Amino acid sequence: MLSKEQNELLTKVGPGTPMGAALRQFWAPAIRSANLEVDCAPTRVRLFGQDFVAFRDSNGRVGFLDEGCPHRGVSLALGRNEDCGLRCIFHGWKINVDGQVVEVPSEPAGSNLASKIKVNHYPVREEGGIVWVWLGKGAEPPQFPAFGFMNQPLENVVPRKAIVHCNWVQLVEGLLDSSHVTSLHKTWLPTGKDVLSGPNAGMMGAMAPVYEIEERPYGYMANAQRRLADGTQVNRKTEYVLPFFCLIPSTLRTLFGVAMVVPVDDETTFFWDLSWSTEGPIDASTIDKLRNAGTMGLDPDNTYEPCFGADKVWGQDRELMKQGFYSGFQALPIEDFVVQESQGIFADRSKEHLGASDIAIIRMRRLLLDMAKTYQETSSLPIHQQNIDYAKIRPVHEVLSATGQQIEIYV
Ligand code: FES
Ligand SMILES: [Fe+2]
Repeated sequence: MLSKEQNELLTKVGPGTPMGAALRQFWAPAIRSANLEVDCAPTRVRLFGQDFVAFRDSNGRVGFLDEGCPHRGVSLALGRNEDCGLRCIFHGWKINVDGQVVEVPSEPAGSNLASKIKVNHYPVREEGGIVWVWLGKGAEPPQFPAFGFMNQPLENVVPRKAIVHCNWVQLVEGLLDSSHVTSLHKTWLPTGKDVLSGPNAGMMGAMAPVYEIEERPYGYMANAQRRLADGTQVNRKTEYVLPFFCLIPSTLRTLFGVAMVVPVDDETTFFWDLSWSTEGPIDASTIDKLRNAGTMGLDPDNTYEPCFGADKVWGQDRELMKQGFYSGFQALPIEDFVVQESQGIFADRSKEHLGASDIAIIRMRRLLLDMAKTYQETSSLPIHQQNIDYAKIRPVHEVLSATGQQIEIYV
């Protein structure tokens, strides 16, 4: 349970908020690289309650700028992307990927106005088929979160995102909450001999977990432990990496993923699923088949379509329920998005009743609140003072015998 003030501090990310300032210090996934072809139409991108425009210039470089034209604020998303710059359609001012105004055709010949004006532009990196941006303050961006996808050829990596209509913290909580699997995702749970190591055993939700949390320099590892009647123990070790990365255990030997929860603004959230195969090229439908948890929408820029919202009870299908789909939805991630949206745009954490199964989310909230406060007081973040081997951060699914011997491990 949080006070109303703590809940505000936790959830609000717009300009001027303590949490927003801290989040901006991290590299954030912004847009799929495939959306930006050379000299393509520029794209509006909203992140942390601020509007930007992204484009790829004639030389293939990506520019990430504040959206408004420096002349009189017209959206540069309306601009013409030509000859190595974005040209505002209102008076024709042209801006390059470094944010420098390079032409001001509305000014008299010989004007040197252009050289004096710069638009805010932000460092970008293209990794894993995604354009990442750093919106933070300071001289240099921090270490890049180089998870396992960095070592893979691009055709082995699939970036997809869903647009979810609620505050971002609810999505992070959902990822770190192992106990809901038993109920919400019941349809996808393995049965019989598959319970321990068959398809979807990684979700192991047959009973309530007992949590053990280990602190990490970057966040924590939450070990959700479940013991079967014969004494066999299943440990699911989820890694939470500040501020919005989660690595969830799986029993697929060659398919890995990182979930990334990035606020568009306080009320809308990008849920990124960045998955990669260590076996070779892979596509989204193969990933969905391997995960055996339903099929996501076909649009990689919003796999959560159509979104029905509260007035249509999120499109829940009672006929499906009669057919055996426990929740009335036909894909596991959609089950998550629906329950998270149904908590309200901002879950009211002053009214909840938490139990022992909620300690992973309690710890996550504490870490985030401490992070925001630390950044507010010191303008720095401990996580960025260290050298973290992101590629080595791996979630673990392990099965132990009644005597504590490891029977199987999936890393
Ligand atoms: S507003 Fe963009 S050139 Fe005038
Ligand atoms: Fe879930």
